[in-house]
Amino acid sequence: MKRILLIVGGGIAAYKASELVRLLRKRGHAVRCVLTEAGQHFVTPMTLAALSEDKVYTTLWDLKDEAEMGHIQLSRQADLIVVAPATADLIARMAGGLANDLATTLLLATDKPVLAAPAMNVRMWLHPATVRNVAQLRADGITVMAPDEGPMACGEFGPGRLPEPDRIADAIDAALEAKPQRLAGRHILVTAGPTHEPIDPVRYIANRSSGRQGFAIAGALAALGARVTLVAGPVTLPTPAGVTRIDVETAREMADAVDRALPVDVAIMVAAVADWHVDAAVQKIKKGDATPTLSLSENPDILATLARSPQRPALLIGFAAETERVVEHATAKRARKDVDWIVANDVSGDVMGGDSNSVHIVTKDGLESWPRQGKDAVAAQLARRVADALEPAQPMR
Ligand code: CTP
Repeated sequence: MKRILLIVGGGIAAYKASELVRLLRKRGHAVRCVLTEAGQHFVTPMTLAALSEDKVYTTLWDLKDEAEMGHIQLSRQADLIVVAPATADLIARMAGGLANDLATTLLLATDKPVLAAPAMNVRMWLHPATVRNVAQLRADGITVMAPDEGPMACGEFGPGRLPEPDRIADAIDAALEAKPQRLAGRHILVTAGPTHEPIDPVRYIANRSSGRQGFAIAGALAALGARVTLVAGPVTLPTPAGVTRIDVETAREMADAVDRALPVDVAIMVAAVADWHVDAAVQKIKKGDATPTLSLSENPDILATLARSPQRPALLIGFAAETERVVEHATAKRARKDVDWIVANDVSGDVMGGDSNSVHIVTKDGLESWPRQGKDAVAAQLARRVADALEPAQPMR
């Protein structure tokens, strides 16, 4: 049995809170209700008390309750706090960190997850102030459901209706089942894909990197709750869910984008960065008498530069694409670039552009060889390995 603290705000949709309490009780949850002052104009404490089979809390100033059970305790005895309906006013006060009634005091004092089901007039929902407040709540880690769309009590039409009680109950069950995310609060940078180095306005030097392994890693890290910045070379892959993507073309643009993304807790450089750029011609090179000679200059080594930077992340991971003596080259590369881990892959076969990968993880302490598996599986295993390394009991490198 899970304990839910339900905060009922003051809106016409408050009557649906009674139905929500009934549904949650039917699903086997214990429900304790807090009714705001405005909420009491729409639903009575007695209705909620009867349906929840518990006392209903309405005021911060009830001395008897303060003696019996402080409001801090009330906010922490639940497994989940649910705000339904979350009115525009309640959302604004939550976003501002106010504590001027029992509901907002509990929301400020709690250490438990919070789920809000908004309900308000469509103009209020679309108002920039509400948009800003909802974004703030989400950034603060509060789950804000999308309201339903349809005709409203006020005669208008659009998004703003309280989600149906069974949809709120489903969201509550999902929130109660959600496991704590191992990489929550971490900012991780991933580079992926090839770089293109222009020869002239229409031609470039490239390599066979598809970006798939790097994109899979970015997605796997985001799935564990990390804030992921993905600096991607020119590829046509979709952006994985929850990942912030920055598209670049050349190695020098990638170096700048990496620099701007700092600081990060972890950086994983999967990109196949071109080692050289061409002193590119301003106009298209014409097929003339002489065959042109390309004049190459070395690109910045993004990984090695980050390793020496004062902003070096706590965990710095490079990739090594090798076609022979894979572990030997990777071991030398780890030491030369002064990084924590090198993920080495043998690209002599069809790895570049293919679906699977067989990798070796070279660390300061030794070598792990993982079986050949799909790129998504490699990504998931690497994300878990990163989470292990960041946990305090584990050695960092
Ligand atoms: N890398 C980088 N910037 C570069 C070149 C490489 O950040 N200009 C990174 C890659 O993203 C990868 C690692 O360095 O994580 C190894 O890249 P690789 O091309 O295998 O290493 P090189 O230093 O270029 O060595 P070599 O080509 O001689 O094997």
